[in-house]
Amino acid sequence: MTGSASDIGYLFEPRSVAVIGASHNPAKIGYKILQNIVNGGYRGRIYPVNPRGGEILGQAVVPSVDEIGGELDVVCTCVPSQYVFETVKTCARKAVKFNLVISSGFSEVGNIEGEREITNYATKHGMRILGPNIFGMFSARASLDMTFGPGGIQPGNVAIITQSGALGLAMIGKTAVENIGISAMISVGNKADIAEADLLEYLVDDEQTESILMYIEGIRDGAPLVEMLKRAARKKPVIVIKSGRSKRGASAAASHTGSLAGSDDIFSAIMRQCGVLRAESVKEGFDLCKFLSNTSRPAGPNAVIITNGGGIGVLATDACEKYGVGLLDDAEGLRETFGPVTPDFGSTKNPIDLTGGATSDHYAAALDAALENPAIHTVVALYCETAVFDAENLAPMIQESSRKYQAGEKPIVFSAFGGRSTADALSTLSKQRIPIFDDVYAAVACLGGLYAQHDYAKHPPERSVEIALDFAAIDAVLRGARREGRSFLLAAEGQRLMEIVGIPMPLSRMARNLDDAVAAAEAIGYPVVMKIVSRDILHKSDAGGVALDLEDREEVIDAYQAIMRSCRAAVQGAHITGVEVSEMVKSGVELIVGGRRDPGFGPVVMFGLGGIYVEVMKDVSFRAVPLGRAEVLGMMEEIRAYPLLLGVRGEERKDMNSVVDAILKVATMIRRCEGISDIEINPLVVYEEGAGSRAVDVRVLLASAEGGGPDA
Ligand code: COA
Repeated sequence: MTGSASDIGYLFEPRSVAVIGASHNPAKIGYKILQNIVNGGYRGRIYPVNPRGGEILGQAVVPSVDEIGGELDVVCTCVPSQYVFETVKTCARKAVKFNLVISSGFSEVGNIEGEREITNYATKHGMRILGPNIFGMFSARASLDMTFGPGGIQPGNVAIITQSGALGLAMIGKTAVENIGISAMISVGNKADIAEADLLEYLVDDEQTESILMYIEGIRDGAPLVEMLKRAARKKPVIVIKSGRSKRGASAAASHTGSLAGSDDIFSAIMRQCGVLRAESVKEGFDLCKFLSNTSRPAGPNAVIITNGGGIGVLATDACEKYGVGLLDDAEGLRETFGPVTPDFGSTKNPIDLTGGATSDHYAAALDAALENPAIHTVVALYCETAVFDAENLAPMIQESSRKYQAGEKPIVFSAFGGRSTADALSTLSKQRIPIFDDVYAAVACLGGLYAQHDYAKHPPERSVEIALDFAAIDAVLRGARREGRSFLLAAEGQRLMEIVGIPMPLSRMARNLDDAVAAAEAIGYPVVMKIVSRDILHKSDAGGVALDLEDREEVIDAYQAIMRSCRAAVQGAHITGVEVSEMVKSGVELIVGGRRDPGFGPVVMFGLGGIYVEVMKDVSFRAVPLGRAEVLGMMEEIRAYPLLLGVRGEERKDMNSVVDAILKVATMIRRCEGISDIEINPLVVYEEGAGSRAVDVRVLLASAEGGGPDA
């Protein structure tokens, strides 16, 4: 282990540990933890701490941490919550590096103050807290089982970080059944101090850890996590199981960005941005870990399905499409490879159908042929139980083929479906860590995960881009609005903001009465657009506050009167400043670009198909900020309407650069200007290449008063 005294490495490889609240009573948690430490074979110094003294499990008990000689790297605290602060103070005096607070009774039951008290004290004294409300941790490198789990954790190459205690404890047993070896398992509980990002710092470089599985319920302070995940996923597979698919994080419809930003959509998008695989269930998470920890990198994109059943072959084809696995489509090459090993009535088109008459020899021959063909990069081998297949040969055939594929470094995944004999073979093979599944989708999902991971890892890390903006000028606009007690910018202020950052808007003038409106229209030139300006009307179209395509003076007069009438009726007593008269923008592709502060991830940007149906279409994507140009392009490619930007039905390709530029400017503002909580440009109309784009409407919400101005 290397690094300074505060290095996270001491948590995983401590030289000494103490259990505060080590109990004499074998039924208590403080006893069980000590028992696991002793039985797990930890080689460092162990100090049970209990004022009653004596001896527990052959270890001499010290009455207090103060009385331990020498350095103490890690302490595990298992005393009732009301005594934790006292013990934290003692540990700080002793310069303990890490304190695992097992005790419940803190923020999870509303005792936020108690939790803050211990964390603040510890931080001030250079001690890190894991928890509180945890079951502890296991580190294979130190042979240290500091949990109150069942013991006997199998060491291996999968690291698990879990926010759920009960699920984590159950995982200890389940990983043993699934034959998954653990390199580290950490319960993070309330995450008062140490969170996932801190632990990843160690696990990313830990050579024993081949893959990382995380169970997450909620994210706090997501920016360091995003940075760490990006780094981690480049080195090894990171799989996340996230609970809570609710829309809780979405704020009420103050802005489209807010209401479209369901917390789960943002979470999924940011995991994709970071190259992290998202599992839908614990089972899928385990499958991915197991497969990815033991499979080599695919040499290329071409997969082949080999099956003895037409039906499951079609299912696997569908699954390949769903999970982004590309199928080799070279009829000639496939015939040459598989013709000699496929019966006449079978098929050498991908899927290769060996038919229900196939025996283990036919299978082995087809798998050998696929292994030898360098144009085939990965294989999905499917088996349906038939009377013809010599069932007793299934497991040995798969074992042998799997061994050859491993030696040849060609990924293969098996799926077998059938009765008792198939189930027995599945169980035997699975114990040997052979990638075999009872479900075609589960098998292909693993292969899809393998491709997604390697696709991410092969791209070099991208430098984040921040655009140089005049933050002082932005701050002046925000201060003006705040002085008037407003929590949003008026249209003219929004325009000023766009002018400052250089996102072009249509020509526009503010008019306080009918005469002004006519004069403005004449000055701008027809046709014009007219929009209500009122601090009480945020959704202008809904209130009848927008009139488009006004061709002459008469139409301007009529529209002005109609707007006033409908807005007064729609929002009784609304304070109306006037109208904004603008150049009528010619049509192009209407996009939406938004930025907001997510409660978990901090600044995020949104991009999508804009216009008035944005919430119906929900064709949007998200990314965490900061981000680079390629990440912005990836975000743009993700929406269904992306082909509209490339040009469809003879239309020209649109000015992508102007859109990328607008997204990066919004990203920079939302990251740097703490006074802004939401920015939304909708629509941003983009024209053909070279013709740029226009921000037709911009809405800016301000952060609550305590948020400062731009931190320029
Ligand atoms: N220093 C050291 N030892 C102390 C102490 C102190 N300041 N104060 C008390 N002790 C000793 C006690 O004497 C006792 O030892 P004994 O049994 O030999 O007498 C031991 O510490 C435990 O104290 P006790 O009061 O018996 O507590 P407990 O074992 O019933 O419960 C917790 C302690 C931490 C387990 C309990 O408060 C708790 O939080 N349980 C929930 C844990 C949990 O679920 N975490 C999340 C999992 S995901």
